[in-house]
Amino acid sequence: MAGLVIVGAGPIGAWVAEAALADRVVDAIVGVVDPDDRARRELVASTGAPGYATTVQIPRAELGDVALISFASAAERVAPEIIRLVSAGYDVVTTCEGLAWAPRHLWDAMHTSARSDGRTIIVTGANPGFSMDRLPLLLAGASRNVTSIKAKRSMDTSTCRPSLIAKSGRGLTAEEFAAQVMAGRVGHKGLDSSAKLIARGLEWPHKDVSLDIKPILVDGRAIGANHKARLSAGYGREIVLELSMAWKLEEPFDRVTVVGTPPITIDIPGGYPIDDGTAAHVVAAIRHCATLDPGFYRPTDLPLRFGVS
Ligand SMILES: NC(=O)c1ccc[n+]([C@@H]2O[C@H](COP(=O)([O-])OP(=O)(O)OC[C@H]3O[C@@H](n4cnc5c(N)ncnc54)[C@H](OP(=O)(O)O)[C@@H]3O)[C@@H](O)[C@H]2O)c1
Repeated sequence: MAGLVIVGAGPIGAWVAEAALADRVVDAIVGVVDPDDRARRELVASTGAPGYATTVQIPRAELGDVALISFASAAERVAPEIIRLVSAGYDVVTTCEGLAWAPRHLWDAMHTSARSDGRTIIVTGANPGFSMDRLPLLLAGASRNVTSIKAKRSMDTSTCRPSLIAKSGRGLTAEEFAAQVMAGRVGHKGLDSSAKLIARGLEWPHKDVSLDIKPILVDGRAIGANHKARLSAGYGREIVLELSMAWKLEEPFDRVTVVGTPPITIDIPGGYPIDDGTAAHVVAAIRHCATLDPGFYRPTDLPLRFGVS
């Protein structure tokens, strides 16, 4: 048993702190890091942990301590913080979407850092991390001669945290939507990563990915966005991922279709909940830190385990 440091006291950090204590995967929250005074103070008050404005102030880890890094989607922002915490003795779990398929130089830097400090770094989450990569790959493993994988996900953002609603582009005109997509402020991050993770798992080429994002407009304003990623792996093989996230979208669902022998289709009526789901994956990853060999693990690098052991 160990302590958990939360880096990024937003909704995900707060929910994970609560879930990790409730599930007894850690004994205590031993630090809360956030430059935002209000967010930090709230989580400090609810956990009793010391608060810090930056990771530079965090004390060295006690044996078995883990840090959750959940403050940004951009790999370039998160990777240096991970390396700092690993060198301070922490195993690290992160929900950073950009690290689900890390650029080569960051993958090398983190893998080297984890190996040389004898620590584990795990990238996890619901999407990327499960519903459009790990889950389709698990199903593909139950079929032969797979030629196509499709995952379709439809989300009602009215049940989601504010930062996700903002990323869906809600309230923007078509022009504003296009500008915010260009600036990287609107649009789900990680659809291309999920497609590449699936392709890699199937030992298919993974370079040819196209991405598309369009607003869902009602009376001239966006209620959300439609995203599509298509990966062509040659010889007619393809991976297609479609994600709709919009305010009050009716009848949300997840569907995964594997074309192979046998063909498989599964539906999750209501959809896999991204926020509760992410907390569940992070808690599982914290549990796994102690048992994995040192290294950097993308979502599909994690060994498959059944149950909670
Ligand atoms: N893979 C998945 O399935 C999945 C699922 C859910 C969330 N996520 C990702 O997980 C992250 C957390 O989500 P969230 O909704 O909780 O985010 P959020 O609402 O944006 O909260 C993040 C918090 O971290 C703070 N922060 C900014 N820079 C920091 C730094 N250098 N060190 C420590 N804290 C810092 C922010 O402060 P300011 O407000 O002052 O910037 C904010 O209080 C996001 O990147 C999100 O996209 C991934």
